[in-house]
Amino acid sequence: MNTAPEQVGGRRSSISDGPFTVVLRRTGATRTVPADRSLLEVVEEVVDVPSTCRTGDCGSCVSTVLEGVVDHRNTVLSLRARTAGRRVALCVDRSLTPVLVVDL
Ligand code: FES
Repeated sequence: MNTAPEQVGGRRSSISDGPFTVVLRRTGATRTVPADRSLLEVVEEVVDVPSTCRTGDCGSCVSTVLEGVVDHRNTVLSLRARTAGRRVALCVDRSLTPVLVVDL
């Protein structure tokens, strides 16, 4: 079975490749994540986040999702964690919903 990140869950939609809004709940910041930038790059404008690999492999940037649906493109989270939908690898994951609320 191919478990490449882009095929996990069998879903990719055009919205996940496009821009979306990230809300940092604890910080109180709202930012647009454009199609050509990562969620991590945008979040780093507001708050420092550990990021060792920036390829979705190490888990150092994984954060808690409070609202929204993550398009998982990482290789670090288990299928169970992806299905639970409460974690996001900021460096590679995107959003399947127009807004993603993160506990940062
Ligand atoms: S920096 Fe390694 S998973 Fe995001």
